[in-house]
Amino acid sequence: MQYGHFDDAAREYVITRPDTPRSWSNYLGSRLYGGIITQGAGGYSFYKSGGTGRVTRFRFNGVPQDEPGRFLYLRDDADGDFWSASWQPVGKTLRGTVEADADDATLDAAGNPTQASSVRHGLGYSIFHSNYKGIESEATFFIPQDQAFEYWSVKVTNTTAKPRTVSLFSYAELSNEWNYRQDLENLQYSQYVVVCRMKDGMIHRLNSTRERTSELWFGMAGADVAGFDTDRDAFLGAYRTQSAPVAVERGYCSGSEATGDNACSTIQAKLELAPGETRQVIYMMGVGAPDAEWKDADDVALPAGRAIMAEFGTPEAVDRELAAIREEWREFLAPLQVATPDEQMNSMINVWHAYQTHMTFNWSRGVSLIEAGDRDGLGYRDTVQDMLAVIHAIPDAVRERLDMILTGQTEEGGAMPLVKPLTHNPGHEETPTLEKYRSDDPLWLPITVSNFVYETGDVAYLDTVLPYADHGSATVFEHLKQAIQFSLNHLGNNGLVQGLQADWNDCIQFGTTGESMFSTFLMANGCRVVAELAEQTGRADDAAWARGVLADLEVVLENSWDGGWYIRGISSTGAKLGSDTLDEGKIYLEPNVWAAISQTVPEARAIGAMDSVHQRLSTEHGVALCAPAHTKEVPGVGLSLLVFPPGHKENGGIFCHANSWTIVAEGILGRGDRAYEYYRGFLPAKYNDQAELHQVEPYVYCQFTHGPESPRFGQARNPWLTGTASWSYVGVTQYILGVRAELSGLRIDPCLPEGWNGFQVMRRFRGMDLTINVVNVDGLATGVSSVTIDGVEVAPFDDGKRGALVPVEALSDGAVLTVTMG
Ligand code: GLC
Repeated sequence: MQYGHFDDAAREYVITRPDTPRSWSNYLGSRLYGGIITQGAGGYSFYKSGGTGRVTRFRFNGVPQDEPGRFLYLRDDADGDFWSASWQPVGKTLRGTVEADADDATLDAAGNPTQASSVRHGLGYSIFHSNYKGIESEATFFIPQDQAFEYWSVKVTNTTAKPRTVSLFSYAELSNEWNYRQDLENLQYSQYVVVCRMKDGMIHRLNSTRERTSELWFGMAGADVAGFDTDRDAFLGAYRTQSAPVAVERGYCSGSEATGDNACSTIQAKLELAPGETRQVIYMMGVGAPDAEWKDADDVALPAGRAIMAEFGTPEAVDRELAAIREEWREFLAPLQVATPDEQMNSMINVWHAYQTHMTFNWSRGVSLIEAGDRDGLGYRDTVQDMLAVIHAIPDAVRERLDMILTGQTEEGGAMPLVKPLTHNPGHEETPTLEKYRSDDPLWLPITVSNFVYETGDVAYLDTVLPYADHGSATVFEHLKQAIQFSLNHLGNNGLVQGLQADWNDCIQFGTTGESMFSTFLMANGCRVVAELAEQTGRADDAAWARGVLADLEVVLENSWDGGWYIRGISSTGAKLGSDTLDEGKIYLEPNVWAAISQTVPEARAIGAMDSVHQRLSTEHGVALCAPAHTKEVPGVGLSLLVFPPGHKENGGIFCHANSWTIVAEGILGRGDRAYEYYRGFLPAKYNDQAELHQVEPYVYCQFTHGPESPRFGQARNPWLTGTASWSYVGVTQYILGVRAELSGLRIDPCLPEGWNGFQVMRRFRGMDLTINVVNVDGLATGVSSVTIDGVEVAPFDDGKRGALVPVEALSDGAVLTVTMG
């Protein structure tokens, strides 16, 4: 079943049936002022932070799941019938659904009018189309570039032959407190702090806590104010829901002003529409004068809002600003565009997957319909991994974030589990106790830093001196070595890295006496990466050190082979997790993919491990994280995943982040069919025709899909903010299409499925826009026989590795490369 389709030319996903199985959302705005909006116009807005800068209220886990939101009600003043510009919250019978007669029926079987309703989710905006009883509306929601206000611009057209009078009402439930938890939970306080006034045609919400002076304004342009309500309950009426506010039902507002209780932003316009006439009304809401002193708070928001409305409150400004964010996104995505034989791969890489990598970079795990704002801060490992997919697109922003996150590393080499950018104070943070450290956190740094250097060519970055979180400072390169040293200082009895509070898997606690095979492989990988970086930048001693550590690890790695795969770890009592000897948790995905990715074990071992993964964990919806799922304790390991029923999340679910690594692993092993099979296994777009099974957005990766042991097998959950975005993008673009940056040039090393005769990648590399045409007449999986640039054959570096390494000196802006496989 389909609820919509990709419109790649417009860079939009078009929802043609808004009654999607779950809410399908989109993001608006920037890190200054952002928002979430669903296909039902549900969602919320926030200033700088979803946790501590909440602008509009959202009831997480509510019923329905995506209310409140940004609602526009329309009312036919001739007969009192009303609906909303988005299908929800009024929820008229939807045209083209089973309840209605046929796609074009304007009346349902019972003779009631139907609503045609569709939504275009674009990059940074969403547009809602509706037609009900001949009144057409187009409502566009977005936040202009670098601005702290949002537009709700609505065009209303009378498509009938009679004059019509339509009332239009805006409605958002405003947060009483900037802190979302205070707002939602501390009611004995938050219900009594809000004041919301109408002043000269504009709504002004302030709260008397004075903790933040940036207050809210809400205004309307393009029509006269016919009425207003700023008290939520006066607008909705007691015991009503947002589907039928009393003010809309009776056709006029009460002019209420909230003092305490709850505030809302309702301004009514009355539109007299001649046949064929269109009127545009522009609602705007924003934060006024963020830097003002608290004593001025009462006065600052409105003048700031009025100035913004004077400048931006016109149809021309709406068009201009929407064009600007479209262009901004075109530019963000231009650095990597592809044309492959797989249309769904194209839609994802060229638009939605890339967009998602930017959203995870921007919002970490802080704001979605699932992430309420509690995780307001940057989880160390998540942040380091989130950067990987956007280095080629926004190197300057990555550099800034990388600098910051490196200063979240402590002098002894571990990392603060959470870095709070708004208050982070390098050199003065408290050193975590050993028990609180995650064993993997700092070990992601070598991967991201080396990729940053390879992508930008900025070798000097390695010499940049940055403070540690607690005390002392060191060069970036020393930070990387220190990450490895931390693990070496905390090895367990069997020579594996101690698991500590957790490794990548948040739900496995090996502690200070148990050992993690995942972190051991991540450290081994770090050693390889640091050694390669050192060798290429004249750091012979450091290279020798890292290679020496790797050599010492050899026996330990071999001892961790369980017969058909690598163990997951060793508990404090000596029990092996991820071993065939157990009844549950016999095999885990993470150590086995990282055996292959780290390239630190004999290839036969890596292949054996990945074959076992295929045999024992792979399903039609992706690869389970472990099998069989756990129902019982394992002595000596904290398995907090036991809170999840079998097949859910880390307990045998199809954890998509870790699925991404299967693509990388098989790409490295050169098994194109497998890499592609894994890529397709959890590809969101694949579910466009099976949305009722997958349920969530087909244009966005999720944290997990229910695994084979769950009764919900195939249903996906936690869309948007997941490390899946970054790693699967790296997997498909760098290890299937095989274009990746190295220090001396661009490696082109495709690893393709059967039957692919070629593809094209447009790729920015060190400021040069390159077109790479891969020709594969024989349908090979791997291997490059020649490269020409603008028709002239170039000699790639012969470094004995697979694929071609095209020297940076041979490249120039606009160059067209023809890469022939053979
Ligand atoms: C969540 C966390 C991430 C962790 C993963 C596996 O996605 O954000 O840090 O690695 O779960 O437990």
